Amino acid sequence: MSSDELKAHLEFFGELGVNGIRVEPLWRSRPLHEPSALPAPIAPAEPVEPAEPVEPAEPGAVQARVFASPADALIAIRVDLGECTRCKLHTLGRQQIVFGVGNPKADLMFVGEAPGADEDIQGEPFVGRAGQLLTKIIEAIGLRREDVYIANVIKCRPPGNRNPEPDEVGQCEPFLFRQIDTIKPKVIVALGKFAAQSLLRTTDPITRLRGREFRYRAAVLMPTYHPAYLLRTPSAKREVWEDMKRVRVILEGE
Ligand code: URA
Repeated sequence: MSSDELKAHLEFFGELGVNGIRVEPLWRSRPLHEPSALPAPIAPAEPVEPAEPVEPAEPGAVQARVFASPADALIAIRVDLGECTRCKLHTLGRQQIVFGVGNPKADLMFVGEAPGADEDIQGEPFVGRAGQLLTKIIEAIGLRREDVYIANVIKCRPPGNRNPEPDEVGQCEPFLFRQIDTIKPKVIVALGKFAAQSLLRTTDPITRLRGREFRYRAAVLMPTYHPAYLLRTPSAKREVWEDMKRVRVILEGE
């Protein structure tokens, strides 16, 4: 490991609040991915196709319209979404729609599951504790939160933070697809099991999905662990760091 790489590791773990890596010899000597921890083979250089098709049908998708800029196109998507009543979540206590935030021309996009309580109040994705960790993860690869785009599979908070239900996803995801197709990111990081399974139309566990790369709507999609999981399981941060280093390599043009 070069001194630059070591510095990046230390900065990442320092930023994310992980202590004691110097006394853990395994971190320095272990291969990048332990086969036992990762049932799926990893082929970072060659994007692999998911088993299921990942270009879902888009009921309700509008005719292509021409916009002066991606920012304008995102505004039009937001207008089309309106004060959405397409699914039952508008009757189940949502405060507001959490559309998405960031650079309309971002090369890197993060997709989470659904707004939580903080996001429901503030109207912005990933602003709670998990969101603050996500911001640090973004900064660990030399980007700022405003350089990337952040959205969720669904745009309204499910009651009690339960998982989104299929009808809710079905109504909402066409808007996410339009956001993706407008922003045209090079890399989409799917945060956590729900986002990864939902986007990839698979029931494979996140432990099988992370560490792999999928072609998805003209982007490379990389599933990784959700920041809320990292808050509960700090040891998983090292795998997310591996994923983020790979994201950085792709963004730099391999
Ligand atoms: N978890 C998510 O998946 N999305 C958010 O916006 C916040 C927490």
